Amino acid sequence: MQKATVIVGTQWGDEGKGKITDVLAEKSDIVVRYQGGSNAGHTIVIGDKKFAFHLLPSGILRPGKVVVIGNGVVVDPAALFQEIEKLEAMGIQTADLKISERAHIVMPYHKQIDALEEELKGKFGAGTTRRGIGPCYADKAARFGLRVCDLLEEREFREKLEIVYGVKKRFLGAYGKEIVDFQSMLNEYLEYGKKLKPYVCDTAYYLNEAIDAGKKVLLEGAQGTHLDIDHGIYPHGTSSSTFAGGASTGTGIPPAKIGSVIGVVKAYTSRVGEGPFPTELHDRTGEIIREKGQEYGTTTGRPRRVGWLDLVMVNYSVMINGIDTIALTKVDTLAGLEKLKVCVAYRINGQETTRFPASMNELARAVPVYEEFEGWEKPEDRNLKKYIEFIETQTKVKVGFVSYGQRRDAILSR
Ligand code: GDP
Ligand code: IMO
Ligand code: MG
Repeated sequence: MQKATVIVGTQWGDEGKGKITDVLAEKSDIVVRYQGGSNAGHTIVIGDKKFAFHLLPSGILRPGKVVVIGNGVVVDPAALFQEIEKLEAMGIQTADLKISERAHIVMPYHKQIDALEEELKGKFGAGTTRRGIGPCYADKAARFGLRVCDLLEEREFREKLEIVYGVKKRFLGAYGKEIVDFQSMLNEYLEYGKKLKPYVCDTAYYLNEAIDAGKKVLLEGAQGTHLDIDHGIYPHGTSSSTFAGGASTGTGIPPAKIGSVIGVVKAYTSRVGEGPFPTELHDRTGEIIREKGQEYGTTTGRPRRVGWLDLVMVNYSVMINGIDTIALTKVDTLAGLEKLKVCVAYRINGQETTRFPASMNELARAVPVYEEFEGWEKPEDRNLKKYIEFIETQTKVKVGFVSYGQRRDAILSR
């Protein structure tokens, strides 16, 4: 048996998980998404072609492999088929896709409620992607959800949807919002059910049997540890278990069958959406990094907030994920800067700490304590080596991969 490997974002998402997953997929058999939904945007660049995946796992561009959408993912069928059909239209050879029958389905009213609740929340809003993620996971927890397996049974699906629809209609109506038409939604989703059918299976059996038979499984996290529903910045994060623990609940692969956890660390920090961000740069350096790193949301196109690397954040991720290898990305984006800073501690209420606070208010008061570094020009420069070694000393984790460009081949193994 080969134990599975998890790839997890250590910051606020967009660390380059898609690229790292695509690279490591070459030597894997199966790539699995375990949580999140079409809020994710994972970019893969091959030659002059750029692909952005929201629901499809980043192993999809590896023909001969299998990709799996696990039970922990919330599936928006419209978004999924858009991705599949786009690849088909391009004539791209893909991996085989399997979808869990236990995965929950994002419905149109989830998106309506996502937008409404963001309005109602005021300053507690997360600046969501409006993809219906929170309301879909809320329905899952409240046992109001509809699953992929429900979609395959027409009569039962209609019955369940009628009940849920009545509740959602009242809720939206109370705020003067009109819910989507029942019959057209039902027809649309029953069509999706037919289209989904060939992909659907019990992925927990499939994955466990594959691991037992010696297959190499890669579990691709979406979002990042600091967006996790339990461990992230609450309430400005997302609604799923983004950290490595979610790889087990989101697939049915037991923790004992997970061997290695690779943490993807962007060489600086970025954030889309609301919430405190201690190392955020509001100056010209921030603009340079945003432009050079093309820090604009893959899913929403929003400009990403950027700042210096924050090792207080990363160390919390190392601890709760059990990260044994770091994949450091976008070192090329920082190239050309004269001086760089890395945050090693926070000063909160006059006290220095290396612990990441649970309270959003404390985080908002955190003043970063920085170490300064000389800049570099090329990946092989001595100053970059110092930067990497400093990260290794501070995190006590080996930097196993250094990514220095968008393309598949712009990566060094150490
Ligand atoms: P993900 O959500 O973690 O998969 O990351 P995104 O795809 O949303 O954002 C990362 C962006 O950085 C994408 O446009 C990637 O193509 C790009 N990227 C990944 N690694 C590198 C790198 O080492 N250098 C540069 N310049 N871009 C990279
Ligand atoms: P990938 O997988 C960066 C952020 C949103 C918002 C909060 C909640 O590409 O790294 P949601 O729509 O999930 O309810 O939004 O989480 N967010 C992301 N930020 N990368 C992502 O995914 C994200 N997915 C959600 O901006 O602040
Ligand atoms: Mg992204």
